[in-house]
Amino acid sequence: MRKKIVAGNWKMNTTLEEGVGLAKDVNQALSKATPKCDVIIAVPFTHLASINAVINPTKLGLGAENCADHKSGAYTGEVSASMVASTGATYVILGHSERRQYYGETSEILKEKVNLALANNLTPIFCIGEVLEERENGTYLDVVKKQIEEALFDLSAEDFSKLILAYEPVWAIGTGKTATDDQAQEMHAHIRSVIASKYGKEVADNTSILYGGSCKPSNAPQLFAKPDVDGGLIGGASLDAESFMGIVNAF
Ligand code: 13P
Repeated sequence: MRKKIVAGNWKMNTTLEEGVGLAKDVNQALSKATPKCDVIIAVPFTHLASINAVINPTKLGLGAENCADHKSGAYTGEVSASMVASTGATYVILGHSERRQYYGETSEILKEKVNLALANNLTPIFCIGEVLEERENGTYLDVVKKQIEEALFDLSAEDFSKLILAYEPVWAIGTGKTATDDQAQEMHAHIRSVIASKYGKEVADNTSILYGGSCKPSNAPQLFAKPDVDGGLIGGASLDAESFMGIVNAF
């Protein structure tokens, strides 16, 4: 059966000292809790090794927010999947809309990143989602289908089964405007049917599909109650241990 997961995406926030403090707070809160889901934090590259040293990996998973589309070499400023893995991190967010929008990441580039992440035993948290115009003109289901097909459908069923997907409607990210639970459910069921059409029902049923976009302790319970919503990818609310734990405890 697929896992329930709440993952934080810290984005470009916190100094090293602040980040280690936040990770310790989340770790501490989890040490006293028995959450009904897996909990992951995805943090800036600079923080990975230090945070890995202070968390209990059986309670809290650690991931990067990106990795390079090349294995190694003359790519100044890039961080490879093997470098991420060498810090002790085991997850990596790929295809976040902010990477697609501001850094020109295409499906071709993302394909390389997914392959390199898997080759280094990192679990990709692969993001998909439509922009407001696509929501309003009614093409959103097709847009997300295409994002999945283009970047992921060259994978074997075995490799596809290692992925976590995250549906993040771009119009809901950091805007305070959450998708309704019915909008999330419609898309998550659609994503599962797209997966089933290529890899079969069993793979589709076993894939965790997270919702992201202005998820908060107040709206998480309704969203997570939907049958195809397997948890959340949390931006702003993951920067405060108490609100992040409020979302974890929504399960
Ligand atoms: P917010 O929760 O801040 O809307 O961000 C969502 C997100 O982009 C997580 O990856």
